[in-house]
Amino acid sequence: MTIRTSLNPSVKSLCLAAALTTVTLLPAANAADLTVGFSQIGSESGWRAAETTVSKEQAEKRGITLKIADAQQKQENQIKAIRSFVAQGVDAIFLAPVVSTGWDAVLAEAKEANIPVVLLDRDIDPSGKELYLTAVTSDSVYEGKVAGEWLVKTIGDKKCNVVELQGTVGASVATNRKKGFEDGIAGHSNVAIVRSQTGEFTRAKGKEVMESFIKAEGGGKSICAVYAHNDDMMVGAIQAMKEAGLKPGSEILTVSIDAVPDIFKAMAAGEANATVELTPNMAGPAFDAIVAFKEKGTVPPKWIQTESKLYTAADDPMKVYESKKNLGY
Ligand code: AHR
Repeated sequence: MTIRTSLNPSVKSLCLAAALTTVTLLPAANAADLTVGFSQIGSESGWRAAETTVSKEQAEKRGITLKIADAQQKQENQIKAIRSFVAQGVDAIFLAPVVSTGWDAVLAEAKEANIPVVLLDRDIDPSGKELYLTAVTSDSVYEGKVAGEWLVKTIGDKKCNVVELQGTVGASVATNRKKGFEDGIAGHSNVAIVRSQTGEFTRAKGKEVMESFIKAEGGGKSICAVYAHNDDMMVGAIQAMKEAGLKPGSEILTVSIDAVPDIFKAMAAGEANATVELTPNMAGPAFDAIVAFKEKGTVPPKWIQTESKLYTAADDPMKVYESKKNLGY
């Protein structure tokens, strides 16, 4: 904006103030012009459904147009969605990658079209790092480690056979949460993972796999603890244990990840012991990064890390349950 020098000082300062206001308001105005395409995995868990809800809320708050494509757990659908977003010329693409490999070609197409990509809640293989702008995720190795360390501390010197319900095969969070837990129990020979299988991050599969673990472990009597890569699988496993006449939360310890409301209900009922929180608000920091990048050219750090907090039955689970209800769940 040009300010004519013939204006008197007070008018000049008014004009300057107006110009500055325009500059200050610019980010919000420009954010409203943005269209973001989000390739979401599906709705396998309560956490995932909350992430979708929160993403919509965060977009609305900023006046950003958000187009969500539900891939129904299939990478091929995610690849199609990304290609469609590129064809539509969106301003940015959010991707929650169902698995960690196989993204190079499609992300190179987005890069070629000058469309920044932000990864949400899961990572891709290191070979693809230059193909996205930033990743908003937790430290999923750390989450597993916190779970393992909690168990080691809780169990003391007692011998403890652990059964593990893994997340989706090939997902970064499944690989990392497994590794983290193994790191957490390392050096404690009394604690060992005796069975480990995918429960695909769903309640139904978590229950089914837990039923087979119980059968294979003599009716479950030799199981000391269940570690699940998410709370939904644990809720299914708790059901399986109860149906088999076992007492989850007392006879068999539980530790899982996400901190969805239902796990706190189970904790309050004495049927679950611990969970590590994963925020469903991945989109908020991602939108902020994209707005700053588009408007000021600010390049975000390669990793925007979200917090991981351990909750146990000592944390007033009913109160946490109530406080979670308005957070997209
Ligand atoms: O990638 C995050 C994981 O995906 C959540 O922990 C799990 O519930 C979801 O399905």
